[in-house]
Amino acid sequence: MQRLSPRFPLGLIHLCVAVALLVLAMDNAHAQSLKFATPSPSGNSKSDPTNNPIPVPGSGKVYIGAHIDWNAEAPEAYATTSGLDLLGYGLFLPFPLSSGDFGYFQDKILNQPYPSASSDGNTRSQLMLTLEPVAGGLAMAANNASAVADVVAVCKLLNERGVSVFLRFAHEMNGWWSFWAMRPTAYKAAFRAIALGIQACKTCTATAMVWAPQVGVGYPWGLDIPLNQPGFFTANPGYGNIDVNELKTLDTNGDGKIASGDEPYEPYWPGDDVVDWVGLSIYYAGRNYGEPSEPWPTMFSNGLQGFDFADGVTVQAPNFYQIYCVSRKKPFTLAETSLMHIKYDSLGTAANATRLKLKQDWWRQTINATLFDQFPNYRSTWLFEFAKEDTIPGVIEDFSYTFDAATRAAFKADLPTSRMVFGRSNYVNLANYTSSLSTLRTSGSSGSPGSPPTSNDAPTKIEKPYILLRVFSSLVIVMVGGALLL
Ligand SMILES: *[C@@H]1O[C@H](CO)[C@@H](O)[C@H](O)[C@H]1NC(C)=O
Ligand SMILES: *[C@@H]1O[C@H](CO)[C@@H](O)[C@H](O)[C@H]1NC(C)=O
Ligand SMILES: *[C@@H]1O[C@H](CO)[C@@H](O)[C@H](O)[C@H]1NC(C)=O
Ligand SMILES: *[C@@H]1O[C@H](CO)[C@@H](O)[C@H](O)[C@H]1NC(C)=O
Repeated sequence: MQRLSPRFPLGLIHLCVAVALLVLAMDNAHAQSLKFATPSPSGNSKSDPTNNPIPVPGSGKVYIGAHIDWNAEAPEAYATTSGLDLLGYGLFLPFPLSSGDFGYFQDKILNQPYPSASSDGNTRSQLMLTLEPVAGGLAMAANNASAVADVVAVCKLLNERGVSVFLRFAHEMNGWWSFWAMRPTAYKAAFRAIALGIQACKTCTATAMVWAPQVGVGYPWGLDIPLNQPGFFTANPGYGNIDVNELKTLDTNGDGKIASGDEPYEPYWPGDDVVDWVGLSIYYAGRNYGEPSEPWPTMFSNGLQGFDFADGVTVQAPNFYQIYCVSRKKPFTLAETSLMHIKYDSLGTAANATRLKLKQDWWRQTINATLFDQFPNYRSTWLFEFAKEDTIPGVIEDFSYTFDAATRAAFKADLPTSRMVFGRSNYVNLANYTSSLSTLRTSGSSGSPGSPPTSNDAPTKIEKPYILLRVFSSLVIVMVGGALLL
């Protein structure tokens, strides 16, 4: 099966920090508002917040799900331990899907109990499928119909069995830490090919294409790329699979480099007609990386609108909410979020009051009723329920909200429950489940239930969480480095 190898060796991470701090030292003295053009919608929007493969829930409510470590737990076990019946769960797979990936999908999703319905009675359960292209994967999405068909088959199967799919293809595509980083032309062609494959599938009517960059404040996160030095990339092969011919499209202000002041989002917009939901990744990892410091009180809402995380006034990125949610009428999912806390003890120890307080500060500013009222297109939120020893032996990077009893109790007590759509505590084995949801069959011919993808491989375990956290390690360092620039 396809296995992603760690992108950033530790040495490179440290280099990145050094770069970020250097830029910080140079720029800190004159932080000022940046200027960005306001792009306008193309007018051929396929969907809007109400007419959507995953319609927004009624009564101003917000869906809730979590990315979990499938090698450690399954949804029903998560619900039992946390006391939270979430509506959806997140799974990361490589693109293209290998037979081993299918095997893993069958093992973890189809052959284990999965949430079957929502607490509000009108909504199906959900799965966020995040596809991470391997090297060459973007080109394959655009040119290889059978690789696209494999993705469509998975979505079709889930939709027919009552599960809606948030299909998040090549997220954080504007951040250089991804394999598919900073390839606007290839990315847009790939995203469109996947979306058109889904649109052509008659029973994939509950699959929503999710466009989800990294929050643009701090872009390009310490990496000033001089356009006249393409040799930089061959000398530093860790920087994704950047194509020097595409880079100039990222120099949106025409100053000869990819740097602060260039558009972090719009070069990657694949078209109003192929995006159903928009989303962002945004984490807090300490003002200095890993330091247990208070997040800025409205960091999330500031970042969502392109403001300096701390002051909420200085423009540091385009206003994501205004452009993509209001003007382009797309509902918003907070696709990945958490506060990272580094623990120098083991997971088994009792709750730590400092850790609890910091996490609480973060979840209160990202999941709260006032915020939902302020940003009415914010309709879905995803936790990142991981705590792992990663790059530093003996140190646990803890993103979880529910892994210890005290933090879990505080999180549950703070949740604006009446404004959220959970799962119903009813789990079914999807392999056996034949949905009678007639809405699925209204739009077309091929109403026959999809059969599971065939695989001769034994289910394969993917070491995704480990890889993910390595990537996040570099991400948060640079994110914080970028934030400090302001
Ligand atoms: C196209 O995709 C399929 C399915 O992933 C794969 O088996 C095949 O090797 C790909 N073809 C090329 C030319 O890459
Ligand atoms: C609790 O967390 C803080 C911040 O990381 C740390 O300084 C402190 O040592 C921890 N206390 C215990 C008892 O683990
Ligand atoms: C809830 O969100 C609003 C809007 O961003 C913010 O002003 C408020 O401080 C948040 N509440 C808490 C308890 O953090
Ligand atoms: C699903 O089908 C398998 C094989 O037919 C069976 O062993 C299992 O008990 C079924 N599970 C459920 C939840 O019905």
